[in-house]
Amino acid sequence: MQHDPAFTFVLFGGTGDLSMRKILPALLSAHRGDKLHVDGKILCVAQQAMDRAAFISSVRQRVGPQLAADDAGWESFLERIDYLAIDAFDAASYQSLAERLQQASGVRVFYLATAPALFEPICAHLAASGIDLTQARVVLEKPLGTDLASSRKINDAVARVFAENQIYRIDHYLGKESVQNLMALRFANSLFEPLWRRESIAHVQLTIAEELGVEGRGGFYDDTGALRDMVQNHLLQLLCIVAMEPPTSFDADAVRDEKLRVLRSLKPLSPADVEQKAVRGQYGSGAIRGNAVAGYLDEAGIEADSCTETFVALQAEINNWRWAGVPFFLRTGKRLPQRMAEIVITFRPVPHAILPLPIGLAGEVSNRLVIKLQPEESIQLHCLGKQPGDGMYLEPVVLDLALDKASKRPRAEAYERLLLDAIRGNLALFVRRDEQEAAWKWVEPLLNAWDNSSQPPKSYAAGTWGPASSSALLYRAGFAWPEER
Ligand code: BG6
Repeated sequence: MQHDPAFTFVLFGGTGDLSMRKILPALLSAHRGDKLHVDGKILCVAQQAMDRAAFISSVRQRVGPQLAADDAGWESFLERIDYLAIDAFDAASYQSLAERLQQASGVRVFYLATAPALFEPICAHLAASGIDLTQARVVLEKPLGTDLASSRKINDAVARVFAENQIYRIDHYLGKESVQNLMALRFANSLFEPLWRRESIAHVQLTIAEELGVEGRGGFYDDTGALRDMVQNHLLQLLCIVAMEPPTSFDADAVRDEKLRVLRSLKPLSPADVEQKAVRGQYGSGAIRGNAVAGYLDEAGIEADSCTETFVALQAEINNWRWAGVPFFLRTGKRLPQRMAEIVITFRPVPHAILPLPIGLAGEVSNRLVIKLQPEESIQLHCLGKQPGDGMYLEPVVLDLALDKASKRPRAEAYERLLLDAIRGNLALFVRRDEQEAAWKWVEPLLNAWDNSSQPPKSYAAGTWGPASSSALLYRAGFAWPEER
């Protein structure tokens, strides 16, 4: 397969954790799958002074252990990689970069896997360096700002150099096979569409749960928190895909226009909503799969009196004809009992029940569509069937479609797909500026209230499903999280 363009992939932050854990392995996987043009080069740039040989040896040490011992493409992949030490603030460094790029052919992709504070100087210096950027693409890693004002500032700085259709804002959730399958489920099947609305759906739950804690990222995480790290981007993007109208085509802007309409239809959070419809939690010590783990405040890099949230649950509403009055419950947290992402669509109960329900099934009476995104990928339709035998009693039955086993084709990791899309120039799975800013705008009342609150977040033991107020949030609305049904 060789339908991809020749390229030079300039990886700023090339020695960083993200590059070594995600980006280089994703490019390696694309290389092994024969998806990269033979004239595809990877130029890693970072501050550390070293030559190519030293850099390659650090790639061997840091990326190598993630590979199978007999990895076929490894040596030929390393041949694609070069290294250039630069100071992101120094104009002369960009002259060296320009010289390197002079011999390079094909599409130029600048991937900024650096702190966002560097986006502005990097873009400005690239523009001043004389490097031809007319056909270039720039890929931006999150976090893109810490609130609406700072994200606008970054976007303005990047926009002074690159047009919007050259800017690829990564939300790696959009690159997940399972998330795209959600679009396929909605827009390739007529079965669900008539039911996909307020008349049939009682409420929707979206959960992204992690077992991991802050994993050596304490300093970053303590300034960020779950609302900025997960809700503003991944959870709101998932909500958009669940709630958007069918786009007129799968073109990038057709899809992004519809997601934007959802974000703009989100009911703004009033001060009362912030109090009553949002929960923030922070994990204390506890156990994950039987292993004792420390509480958040005891993790390295965390302030002793930190009020940063590691858990968020909140209720959103969408003010449009399809969804008015349907609560969307969003939750995410670190140090929860299992790593899991799923969407639960609960349908309204039958208007008049004529068949007796088994005792204890009160919470199960509605049909549910459970879309599991990770670790396994499946669609389950929870229905009621008849208990075999005498009498006419109901029991829950599940139609289970294991999507990850339904096809034998190899599945691509999120980063691999997104990097290939950036090289190919396909923007559909990247976040447009207006979407990103609409998402910041919606979370801002929560950010402000929590940043200025004198109340600490509610504590929860590591290995549990968050603070009790998360259960109460649903209970008050007459619902329950799946593990509490
Ligand atoms: C990242 C967050 O965007 O997503 C991390 O910064 C989080 O804190 C990660 O762990 C979760 O991604 P995934 O793909 O493992 O669900």
